Amino acid sequence: MEENFASDTQRIAKAKKMKIFVSFAAGMAGLLFGLDIGVISGALPFITTQFELSHQLQEWVVSAMMLGAAIGAISTGWISFNLGRKKSLMTGATLFVLGSLGSALAPNVEILLISRVLLGFAVGIASYVAPLYLSEMSEKEDRGKLISMYQMMVTIGILVAFLSDTAFSYSGNWRMMLGIISLPALLLMCAVFGLPDSPRWLASKGKFEKAKEILRMFSPTDDKADAEFKEIHQSLEIKQEGWSLFKENKNVRRAVYLGMLLQAMQQFTGMNVILYYAPQIFKHAGFASTEQQMIATVICGATNVLATLIAMKTVDNSGRKPILKIGFAGIALGTFLLGVCLYMINSGFNPLWISVLAVIMTLFTITSFAMSAGPVVWVLCSEIQPLKSRDFGVACSTTTNWIVNMIIGATFLTLIAKFGIAATFWIYTALNISFIVLTILLVPETKGISLEGIEKNLMEGKRLRDIGI
Ligand code: BGC
Repeated sequence: MEENFASDTQRIAKAKKMKIFVSFAAGMAGLLFGLDIGVISGALPFITTQFELSHQLQEWVVSAMMLGAAIGAISTGWISFNLGRKKSLMTGATLFVLGSLGSALAPNVEILLISRVLLGFAVGIASYVAPLYLSEMSEKEDRGKLISMYQMMVTIGILVAFLSDTAFSYSGNWRMMLGIISLPALLLMCAVFGLPDSPRWLASKGKFEKAKEILRMFSPTDDKADAEFKEIHQSLEIKQEGWSLFKENKNVRRAVYLGMLLQAMQQFTGMNVILYYAPQIFKHAGFASTEQQMIATVICGATNVLATLIAMKTVDNSGRKPILKIGFAGIALGTFLLGVCLYMINSGFNPLWISVLAVIMTLFTITSFAMSAGPVVWVLCSEIQPLKSRDFGVACSTTTNWIVNMIIGATFLTLIAKFGIAATFWIYTALNISFIVLTILLVPETKGISLEGIEKNLMEGKRLRDIGI
């Protein structure tokens, strides 16, 4: 009896260790995602001076990565379906190393651009495979938390990139800024070696015994693992795959469109505009020196990380849907008041309190995003797709994320030139209000229900908002 108890506790401890390792490895992919998003803003001025870049080439240096990421995300559906999640992550990690070293050593802007596309490809793979892998490796009780942790690693990556940019900015060493990312990329390569393949993917390839073995490694009891295996097996009985399933099955189409809509909503919140524009907002608000603005950027990065912690705490308890509604409402309020402050400042009414309010609203908007749409959209997107078309569905939603990200970046300056900075933020306010309505009408609550349960409801033709609990 006592022996049994001891072996049970040992097993639980081992399963826990495995889970921590899996989260760490997938989290490393998130960290690299964030590092690559965050690093370029600090490096760009120095690269511009060295290669005497035109305005257009500067935009290309930035967006080459997003282009690569969109291509990466779209093609990873195929890679990850055929090779599995583990080998896809390995491909991503290798490209991360090559892309970072290539950018750091680039003798001219052409090589830099090619390396940035390669890096983007790696980011596309990471942003696609890691949340998917995590959702397949976790139990329903902590799925939301695990994927939110992945998002937290993304935000830590952005923050670390801001910090390292600041450190290297004194010497102007942009090659170090870009090259240092190859170290965590190497670490990711090592970690991926030790990862098991996803039991859901193995089962979809007919490798049932291996799938069972891995499920048992992660489960406190064999019974629990076998019950989970049964659920996976049942969900595999629906034949067809990806694109063909998308063409033939209305329910699959609904899930794919919902995933794409969620990612478009996440990007159209305007969060990235706030992140990129933060130094300027702080400048408007009277923090004039470069050092003050760098500190401000780091404060934004840190706020982003801390607020993601709130999501990790709440996503599996309060659920996805309430957090999402509160988040969109917060971003709407934040961008509205930020617009009002900037409007007043631009009209010459500039007492200190307005500047302080502008800064507070910037941080408030970041917080509202980071505790809601930031993590929750990635969580939902990896949950709502049926197993047989999961790769295709997640590829579509992740690619949407990168394409809209590119659109946001490319239109922001034009919008400001046309409507002014205040009205530009008010456009985002209006969009966020409409997202509250869309969330109420279309988004399901998926906390505490198994992926197979969600799939069953979807395939029975239930309304999208009812496919969860
Ligand atoms: C978004 C990124 C964004 C980041 C900020 C992610 O969920 O997809 O576009 O830059 O959050 O933390």
